[in-house]
Amino acid sequence: MREMVAETALRPADFILPAFIANGIDAPREISSMPGVYQHTEDSLLKLGEEALEAGVRCIDLFGVPLDEEKDAEGSEAWNPEGALNRGLRALRREFGDELIIMADTCLDEFTDHGHCGVLSTDRHGATIVNNDATLPRYQKMAVAQAEAGAHIVSPSGMMDGQIAAIREGLDEAGMQDVAIMAYSAKYASAFFGPFREAVGSSLEGDRRTYQQDPANFRESLLETELDIEQGADFVMVKPALPYLDVLRAVAEMSPVPVAAYQVSGEYAMITAAGQKGWIDREAVMMESLMSIKRAGAEQILTYFAIEAARRLRG
Ligand code: PBG
Repeated sequence: MREMVAETALRPADFILPAFIANGIDAPREISSMPGVYQHTEDSLLKLGEEALEAGVRCIDLFGVPLDEEKDAEGSEAWNPEGALNRGLRALRREFGDELIIMADTCLDEFTDHGHCGVLSTDRHGATIVNNDATLPRYQKMAVAQAEAGAHIVSPSGMMDGQIAAIREGLDEAGMQDVAIMAYSAKYASAFFGPFREAVGSSLEGDRRTYQQDPANFRESLLETELDIEQGADFVMVKPALPYLDVLRAVAEMSPVPVAAYQVSGEYAMITAAGQKGWIDREAVMMESLMSIKRAGAEQILTYFAIEAARRLRG
């Protein structure tokens, strides 16, 4: 009877699996702060895609990890067709065609030597700043390169103002009207991203508080989401997930497009570490956290637990 009256149900197809492809490795490399998550080679990435599909997960979100010497001030590896990420996208598309939905992370931080999501410049007072508007044409180039490589969805995660309009225009001009945009609309400057920095070998010093949102703010998320929808977002996202369920619920209530939430690296790491210590039941907490994210209003959930949780749902 409990099942009959349950108000929320998780499905394997709700999950999106974030994955990493790295240059310069010849075997998958486990991320120490995210046990069970790996930087992949092309071969191991394709195996991961197979496992995802077998478990009923339909979408992979790919991040690229270049070598340090491939990074530069503007992140130009991001639009190099042979760059780590574009190579991975191409391999996935070649292997899986339209069976697996291939999503690309569209942000410069993995590719810049300073680790910021945009290019830097000096303001009129001599301070170094992330230059919002100078970043937009780079995002356009990156998105077009990703779509050419095979991405079905591009996902701008850099929180630059105007990024959705710029990318939509860039894709449309390149004749890629069919490529969708998942907008990281309400993304907070969060310490929960900690383990991700290791996952992508980030060069960042400092923080992203000038372009990501202050955890103190709620209303701002609704404005950011509205702007993204006006500019042509096909999906909007709230990130991180569990600490921001109030934001997620509010975005879900106002959004005319599908709403995603990202259960980030730190959320995964906390559940996994406490589970390893025997302090919590890892699997039960995993399923409960995902159920809560869905109950709060997410229709798609980006989670490093995607395959494990999907298998569990299928018994
Ligand atoms: C940056 C980006 C980040 C994550 C996804 N894209 C890190 C950041 O903004 O500092 C975090 C994902 C995670 O923690 O799992 N473009």
